[in-house]
Amino acid sequence: MSSTRTAYRAAILHSIADPAEVGIEASYEYFADGVLLVEDDLIKAVGPAQTLLPTLGDVELIEYENALITPGFIDTHIHFPQTGMVGAYGEQLLDWLNNYTFPCESQFGDKAHADQVAEIFLAELLRNGTTTALVFASMHPESVDALFEAAERLNLRLITGKVMMDRNAPDYLTDTADSSYAESKALIERWHGKGRLHYAVTPRFAPTSTPEQLSLAGQLLSEHEGLYMQTHISENVKEVEWVKALFPERKNYLDVYDHYQLLGERSVLAHGVHLCDDECARLAETGSAIAFCPTSNLFLGSGLFNLAQAERFKVNVGLGTDVGGGTSFSLLQTLNEAYKVMQLQGEKLSPFKSLYLATLGGARALRLEERIGTLQPGSDADFVVLDYKATPLLDYRISQSKSFEETLFVLMTLGDDRTVAQTYAAGRLVHQR
Ligand code: GUN
Ligand code: ZN
Repeated sequence: MSSTRTAYRAAILHSIADPAEVGIEASYEYFADGVLLVEDDLIKAVGPAQTLLPTLGDVELIEYENALITPGFIDTHIHFPQTGMVGAYGEQLLDWLNNYTFPCESQFGDKAHADQVAEIFLAELLRNGTTTALVFASMHPESVDALFEAAERLNLRLITGKVMMDRNAPDYLTDTADSSYAESKALIERWHGKGRLHYAVTPRFAPTSTPEQLSLAGQLLSEHEGLYMQTHISENVKEVEWVKALFPERKNYLDVYDHYQLLGERSVLAHGVHLCDDECARLAETGSAIAFCPTSNLFLGSGLFNLAQAERFKVNVGLGTDVGGGTSFSLLQTLNEAYKVMQLQGEKLSPFKSLYLATLGGARALRLEERIGTLQPGSDADFVVLDYKATPLLDYRISQSKSFEETLFVLMTLGDDRTVAQTYAAGRLVHQR
């Protein structure tokens, strides 16, 4: 079969390293007039137009003006069954869960409903330039099937799993340790490693699982290669106190997950707003990652994530929208809020670090940096075309910009779904604004 080759010409930017490790200048590649060559579903080459164009031969050339190509964004924490309750008023975490979240998630045992929301959810990810996400489904296996089926149709790289929750939640949303093990196992066998899909063992958070359920979650991880583990940790002060009361024998919150062997290189824990140094050190030791979810942490009044502390301990950090606790599907808007979270702590957030968090940093948190998060040849052709003229204000503001760094920062401050002109997944156009 002959292959399809397409070259995309625009300004091109991608992260190649963490600015915290190599400094800002060595952390990215930028081609003011660049070419991205895609062959079928993979990136074949990236570089300056001047050197690449003469080598292309017979190839379809798509040229964009006033546009920036970057890798597709990576959302390391989001809830698909919370699409219908994003922006719920007035509560902090525990009341918010009881009053808004659990009732909304209860609808996802109905496959037709789950199918409908899966379509809306994935369309929203792609409209916002997110090409890979680590997603909480609900406790219903139907919700996992719905999301994987929809992602498979679009050939997206996507990770999800059934929420495990056998206590401290309404009866209509709880499973049992045994049923959660059996249902998760069946889903793993059906979906894990199929195309670009991966499974995540998903205990919601320590308060909603018995020790028996956490232990079986650890067993699932030991029984299958390459599984992910996703959960929440230390998001809210009352939650942290509750975990202390429920697990008095554990030395801290992280130690609960550690004790049940839930920490490893494919473990992603959302929030970590109130972590101590010991917990950060242990996260780094186990290779686990934190999903930094600024819009959620502000919206639910949870607190300010300490990125400097995570960097000091070399903890892997990805960016999460955490919809529906988070208020936007846009990782550009999430970076806008991340910058403010840093400002409130007297810290800076360079736009190149922001780019890293939304792309290569997320890929590293997911151990997928060989496949996604950069435009290195051999990677999956998951990328976005950002429009410098998306809105009149963005257009005017960028016309006043004196450097590319300034342009990038403005793009992250003013940008949102309107900024994403096209989204490509595995070389295929999956969103056209
Ligand atoms: N902790 C446990 N469940 C949830 C959830 O659904 N959202 C957030 N933000 N935190 C949680
Ligand atoms: Zn969450």
